[in-house]
Amino acid sequence: MRVTVIGTGYVGSVTGACLSFLGHHVTCVDTDEAKIAKWKCGQAPIYEPHLDELVALAGRRGGIEFTTGLAGPARASDVIFIAVGTPPLPDGSPNLTYLESAAHGIGAAIDGSRFRVVVNKSTVPVGSGNLVETLVREGIAEAHPADRHAIHFGVASNPEFLREGCAVADSLYPDRIVVGASDEQTLAIMRDLYRPLLEQSFEPPPGVPRPATATQAPLVATSLTSAEMIKYAANAFLAMKIGFANEIANICERVGAEATEVLQGIGLDSRIGSKFLNAGLGWGGSCFGKDVHALLHTAAEYGYSGKLLQASLDVNTAQRQMVIQKLQEKLFILKGRTIGILGLAFKPDTDDLRDAPSLSIVERLLQMGARVKAYDPIAMNACRALYPDLKIRYCDSPREVAQDADALVLVTEWSEFAALPLAELAALMVKPILVDGRNVFRPESAAAAGFDYTGIGRAPRPPAERRESGASQFRPVSS
Ligand SMILES: NC(=O)c1ccc[n+]([C@@H]2O[C@H](COP(=O)([O-])OP(=O)(O)OC[C@H]3O[C@@H](n4cnc5c(N)ncnc54)[C@H](O)[C@@H]3O)[C@@H](O)[C@H]2O)c1
Repeated sequence: MRVTVIGTGYVGSVTGACLSFLGHHVTCVDTDEAKIAKWKCGQAPIYEPHLDELVALAGRRGGIEFTTGLAGPARASDVIFIAVGTPPLPDGSPNLTYLESAAHGIGAAIDGSRFRVVVNKSTVPVGSGNLVETLVREGIAEAHPADRHAIHFGVASNPEFLREGCAVADSLYPDRIVVGASDEQTLAIMRDLYRPLLEQSFEPPPGVPRPATATQAPLVATSLTSAEMIKYAANAFLAMKIGFANEIANICERVGAEATEVLQGIGLDSRIGSKFLNAGLGWGGSCFGKDVHALLHTAAEYGYSGKLLQASLDVNTAQRQMVIQKLQEKLFILKGRTIGILGLAFKPDTDDLRDAPSLSIVERLLQMGARVKAYDPIAMNACRALYPDLKIRYCDSPREVAQDADALVLVTEWSEFAALPLAELAALMVKPILVDGRNVFRPESAAAAGFDYTGIGRAPRPPAERRESGASQFRPVSS
């Protein structure tokens, strides 16, 4: 099939590359000329593992093109995806101007030569499927007033569940594909488009092997409204699950229990599951906060107050500030102290800083008069460019961060941090204090390396009391 994807951010580019890899001819459209120029040179403007390779491979499969012009590709396509950003407005509702402009542009571009499907992949409030249909119709009516009844299209809502950092694997081996469709013809086209994913009938690309469990992907066919609601409900649940883990960890810390053991103990219950059940400094990223706010906003429009949703936002905000409290317990005064931050990205394996816990923590430390040094394997350039006024001293290595610091705070659990030479780092510091915001290290190992260690939900206990348990191998799962 011929496919257009509007928006070449994390979602649009991965969707376009995967569909092209599966044999469809894809044109990716973006209004950002600098981004398109990079894509045309074969360079992804975002950091996402395996994406560059997949785009190169896609060029030799269905074919993939990049352009700033929507009209030609939209007219030539059977399926047109909208994957533009829907960032939050100050009142918590999502900004739909990008979506509106894309939908209107589609209407202005298409003609009556074939039936087309307009697929919304952006996360949009319940009811936006109808909005997309209205905007496409308005675009058609303005551009082709005489033929407007001869131009036919269907609307689908196809929410995206990929995680940045493993977006390619998540898209090729999805747990499910949700399609809310306005009619049977639209659903049938979407089923055909996704058949290789549904049947898992393709040869995996190098470096992204198929998990043994991914034998097929179920298609969940719903109404437009249900599909939109599924996306919000999924993100709200995951945000709440992480918030729950953090709340339990905070109680563990007070009663002398070890959160990693407790969360492992409950996560192995198949009704609960261990994914997204790790204590830390809370979730971040472009989706959870935005989507929970949007769901609360929608609920309020219908006279409902989402108490659980509000609580999960509150717990998350407080969790980020836990670092400040822990530093104050160790150092008392933060003014004039040098605090080293390990990790800026909102999670490992991405350069995305949207709603990153690191930013709230750094801002608070600077407000309190502390000096901040930081290292991140990938996100430092993005941080410099996006927040030029943030007075961070960027370092080339964790060693440089530790040098003469009064405390180190691990904020993002990049895998390279787990292998840090702790004794060497401790020896470089003014005070060897380590706040392990993601419970990456074994408290015993950090203490043996000379650190005054504190994690999240980890009450200090005398060594004799500790059992050898699987808890130390219980690696955090990223949100
Ligand atoms: N990032 C994620 O992990 C993720 C996961 C699931 C769902 N989502 C949702 O998917 C949507 C896209 O998210 P993202 O992270 O890819 O956003 P992004 O900000 O990375 O990318 C959006 C792109 O759309 C482009 N754009 C805006 N208006 C345009 C227009 N009229 N025509 C062409 N291009 C236009 C922008 O220039 C930008 O490159 C959002 O609604 C988001 O909530 C994101």
